[in-house]
Amino acid sequence: MRLDKFLSNAGVGSRSQVKALIKKGQVSINDHKARSSDEVIDENNDVIYYQGKRISLCKHRYYMLNKPTGVVSATEDNLDKTVLDCLSKEDAKDLFPVGRLDKDTTGLLLLTNDGELSHNLLSPRKHVDKTYYVTCESEVTEEQLETLRKGVDIGDDKKTLPALAKAGQHENELYLTIREGRFHQVKRMLHAVGNKVVSLKRLSMGSLKLDDNLKPGEYRALTAEELKDLKGGSIKMPV
Ligand code: URA
Repeated sequence: MRLDKFLSNAGVGSRSQVKALIKKGQVSINDHKARSSDEVIDENNDVIYYQGKRISLCKHRYYMLNKPTGVVSATEDNLDKTVLDCLSKEDAKDLFPVGRLDKDTTGLLLLTNDGELSHNLLSPRKHVDKTYYVTCESEVTEEQLETLRKGVDIGDDKKTLPALAKAGQHENELYLTIREGRFHQVKRMLHAVGNKVVSLKRLSMGSLKLDDNLKPGEYRALTAEELKDLKGGSIKMPV
């Protein structure tokens, strides 16, 4: 396997990031500094180090996608393009989205083949924060923000949990952080306070933040740091 592919599959960074790290001399193969990204390694016998730390190829893979509108959060669909169609065939193999965003929602979506992490992030008992940037049909009033913060009746047996709600850049926009993942939750919350969502973008999930450099439809592997925080974060969340 090529060295740059090995490192990006191991979560060290994107293909272009790892190329730069190799160039800077931060990667070693056994006892010598790696010379170039296209060096071919034997992933079963060679030992690879990045900044002195041993890197092993993990069987799990993790990508963040800036989900565009018009694609569904599923692994296959008879009618629509799915989020997996945004990835190359090779990268998409065996992956699934961690949770769902509506077809018209954009922003951060984690794709992985790690069922345990997915379970930890989605478990209702873990209360993982999800922050959305919401554009509404009409002005978001201070009263609406206050009601959203306290929790609202969206027609389920229980009110929504307290949320963080903060005014956005324009009068009809807001940042909303929720700790649950009920069906169409954000749209139903805004409806419950007498407004209407016209567009919705997810900015973060737990410690993971959408990379501003990713245009809608673009994706990249998570860095080792992002993965460490996400795994640690998902375990440390209050239950
Ligand atoms: N809430 C919604 O209403 N839609 C989403 O896609 C995500 C959260």
